[in-house]
Amino acid sequence: MTGKSAKRVAVFISGRGSNLEALIAASTEQDCPFRIVAVLSDNPEAGGLTLAARENIETFAIPRSGFGSRGEHEAAVLDALSSIEPDIICLAGYMRLLSADFVGQWKGRILNIHPSLLPNLPGLETHKRALALGMRIHGCTVHFVNEGMDDGPIIGQAAVVVRPDDDEDTLSARVLKAEHRLYPEMLRLAATGRVRMSSGGETVLDDASAPDCDDIILISPVQSPKL
Ligand code: GRF
Repeated sequence: MTGKSAKRVAVFISGRGSNLEALIAASTEQDCPFRIVAVLSDNPEAGGLTLAARENIETFAIPRSGFGSRGEHEAAVLDALSSIEPDIICLAGYMRLLSADFVGQWKGRILNIHPSLLPNLPGLETHKRALALGMRIHGCTVHFVNEGMDDGPIIGQAAVVVRPDDDEDTLSARVLKAEHRLYPEMLRLAATGRVRMSSGGETVLDDASAPDCDDIILISPVQSPKL
């Protein structure tokens, strides 16, 4: 796909930007249906801004503290967006909940990645909570964004087995690795139009072909036999 027909993507971040880095890397592959045209952060210190600048991607630092209300902050964000005209917004560690008004203007065109198998464990500290709950499977989700927190229609998920000796650091590192594979793949589907959000707020696939993975895997703390 030529740079011209590739979908224009703006990535919103608040921190280190490792998912941003994975999206940028994928966008440089041949025939990638998307390109990252801008990175916007509510945190001027976000590491991802430096990363983006190094790749000659336009950056916008729009701190919330510079504005009296969420509405004014979002107006500034929308203003920045109107200058770059993205097709899709990807939230990648963006620590602000977008208003219903903002989401309404970009309905079906905002994606988010969340480090749990939604609808389990929305919110923060997902790895710590997964461990405390004794979950045997954890993972990450890419979904369309609606006005709720970590709540829109699911596009895809990647599962990670929780090991008996896992701590928050080891588990989050493996989930992050899964995120870096999942997000580019799901953005690819959205950018080519193979997956979209219906007006009723559901995820629609252009073909219903599911991967061939009917096996049931039993995740026990000591072994993983196939049933
Ligand atoms: C990721 O775990 C993402 O799922 C969550 O915030 C974290 C951002 O990490 N929403 P990074 O900035 O992409 O490294």
